[in-house]
Amino acid sequence: MDDGDDGSDLRKIAVELFGDGDAEFVRASAPGRVNLIGGHTDYNDGFVLPVAIDRRTEIAVRPRDDRTVRAYSANFDESRDFSLDSSPSEESSWLGYIEGIARKLADGAPGVPGVDLVVDGDVPMGGGLSSSASLELATATALNEAWNLDYTPTELADLGWRVEREFVGVECGIMDQFVVALGERDHALFLDCRTRNYERYSLDGDVRVVVTNTNVEHELVDSAYNERVAQCAEGVELLDELLSDDVTALRDVSVAEFEAVEDELPETIRERCGHVVYENERVREAANALETGEMGRVGELMSESHQGLRDSYEVSCPELDFVVEVAGDIDAELGSRMTGAGFGGCVVSFVRAESVEPFAETVREAYLAETGIEPDVFPCAVADGARVEARLED
Ligand code: GLA
Repeated sequence: MDDGDDGSDLRKIAVELFGDGDAEFVRASAPGRVNLIGGHTDYNDGFVLPVAIDRRTEIAVRPRDDRTVRAYSANFDESRDFSLDSSPSEESSWLGYIEGIARKLADGAPGVPGVDLVVDGDVPMGGGLSSSASLELATATALNEAWNLDYTPTELADLGWRVEREFVGVECGIMDQFVVALGERDHALFLDCRTRNYERYSLDGDVRVVVTNTNVEHELVDSAYNERVAQCAEGVELLDELLSDDVTALRDVSVAEFEAVEDELPETIRERCGHVVYENERVREAANALETGEMGRVGELMSESHQGLRDSYEVSCPELDFVVEVAGDIDAELGSRMTGAGFGGCVVSFVRAESVEPFAETVREAYLAETGIEPDVFPCAVADGARVEARLED
């Protein structure tokens, strides 16, 4: 992203495109995210422990005097527009997210003006770092400000989540939008996806979060994701019959309860549910370990999480497994796991700060030699969630 900290480049693009150098822009930005632990637990009402990262989507918007939204994406070098008064398009490109957010906000605020809007970002797309949640929350934050609406970050996260589910047709959980909205610099966010209560845990300065993007994306991700959602729902029905307590989500099942009845479940359902039940336990333990500064334990739990995702939940792939294996052989690594939906995308590793460079180089070389694909291996600073960067009166 060729955008200085003050956003002046983004503003310049907007002025060049839309003219009128004196008009003011609202600017907002939102980060990408990686999830340290809690894989496929969010849509089971469970626990997650993600961080917002220092890759961001930036947006500049300026109210117009009609009801048109005219948008330009610097990433795609493409301009598109729609009217807030026309019926929604079936748009599935970058504009679909912007349109979804704009329409939802405008529905609750009749008569808001259209906007000129420019978007740019450096969250890798399709890599499992939530570039879509980042775009949703950057848009929502900018329009919330430009239209003088009063939504809280939690409400904007919920709005983004609904847009994601409707537009993309994936029955995803709330994790991505929530941490993109509410993440905090140098802190991991422990989120209870049922109650949406959260707590922030400070990250130890001696450990860095390192992301390896495998740069592969296998086709079946959306259908496999919805299949896992359905298998968990099937497990919930069976467990509700088998256990005396009410089970409305896998979150309601403790490890002891699961182990008491697991033999009565069909094999695939048992494996899927088992992963979620153990993973919820690991997330809670990881949060405690962060609190007591036991970073080695957090790393171990991350590695156990990967095994569950690979063997029981079956959402990993050879490229992700290879990275986790190579990383695991490096002394400075405390733990690694796939992050995001799976079937490609990224691995997140906990690495001793002083050894990040040799770690990255070793993983890069090994992965390239094994797959012929150049990965991106980069340390991430843990960053703040979505925010307004400049208000109209600035
Ligand atoms: C994707 C979804 C999230 C979550 C993860 C798996 O990133 O968007 O809601 O389910 O997969 O943990």
